[in-house]
Amino acid sequence: MKAAGRDFSGEVGFVETELRLPVNHMVAPTKGALDCVSCHSRNGLLANVPGIFMPGRGSSHIVDLLGLIMLGGAFAGVLVHGALRIFMKLRNNGKA
Ligand code: HEC
Repeated sequence: MKAAGRDFSGEVGFVETELRLPVNHMVAPTKGALDCVSCHSRNGLLANVPGIFMPGRGSSHIVDLLGLIMLGGAFAGVLVHGALRIFMKLRNNGKA
């Protein structure tokens, strides 16, 4: 009552209220929907929320480097394996 600038009457009870919800249940229209990059980017909506991992928001040079090494290793493995199979087939006169 202090906020309303009135004295407290001492009576407590219920007040009749009415709630009106739009038929779309407050769901925003499609053009108001967020894109993935609204949050998943360096300067996205949640850029300053601490303590969470969000793909696309930050990166680690070491993890990026390890991923590239693994990718390169897998690619090199496929190339070497394929080349060896072709080489062995040619050496055995076309017999597998
Ligand atoms: C409103 C902000 C927001 C939007 C929009 C959003 N994300 Fe996220 N996303 C998050 C947050 C926050 C997390 C981290 C949740 C956690 O770590 O608990 C996350 C986590 C993720 C993860 C990692 C899940 C995991 O288990 O680590 C993936 C993948 C992801 N989001 C994909 C998407 C895709 C795809 C879209 C779009 C279709 C999208 N997000 C839209 C906020 C968002």
